[in-house]
Amino acid sequence: MKTPLARIGIVLAVIVLIAVAGLAGRHYWGLITSAPESGAAAIGGPFTLIDESGRTVTEADFRGQPLLVYFGYTYCPDVCPTTLTAIAEALDLLGDKGHDIAVLFITVDPERDRPENLGEYVRVFHPQIVGLTGSPEQVAAAARAYRVYYAKAAQDPDDPEEYAMDHSAYTYLMGRDGKFLTHFPHGVSAKDMAERIAKLL
Ligand code: NI
Repeated sequence: MKTPLARIGIVLAVIVLIAVAGLAGRHYWGLITSAPESGAAAIGGPFTLIDESGRTVTEADFRGQPLLVYFGYTYCPDVCPTTLTAIAEALDLLGDKGHDIAVLFITVDPERDRPENLGEYVRVFHPQIVGLTGSPEQVAAAARAYRVYYAKAAQDPDDPEEYAMDHSAYTYLMGRDGKFLTHFPHGVSAKDMAERIAKLL
């Protein structure tokens, strides 16, 4: 038999869990687009963003290199770090074959992700990952090009700096010519990713 106090404790724990889940933000696994599958070729395109050193970069700076493009944010508690870890492992598995792949980690949270902390963050995962931010307009334009959905999620009313972002969680593989090749869903294994990249490049 549970005491009334224990019941209250359980109820409180559930409320806290729900609140934490709300603050964690949602990740979307589906392509947020109304375009049919054949429209996948239209994923990608021009962008103007700011790299970790504060330098302005565009898609032209990476032309000739295969790209893995992922939109996320450094405060993401779970999905972004998991995906970046898988990408890093895939790069290690690819070895020489993946040496010129640039991984673009484009923040959907330009308010908090500035060049300084972005660089520090991505470096934890792999030296081939480049952190990109920009003005809210620049980030929005890049997300539009890649058909990425994102939005500010639950916000802590006591601390406006404390919030989560909802965002789609796909990793896009772009060819050396800048054209879309394929995408990987969240949860793909590093081995599967490496094998598909090796086949397509
Ligand atoms: Ni995330």
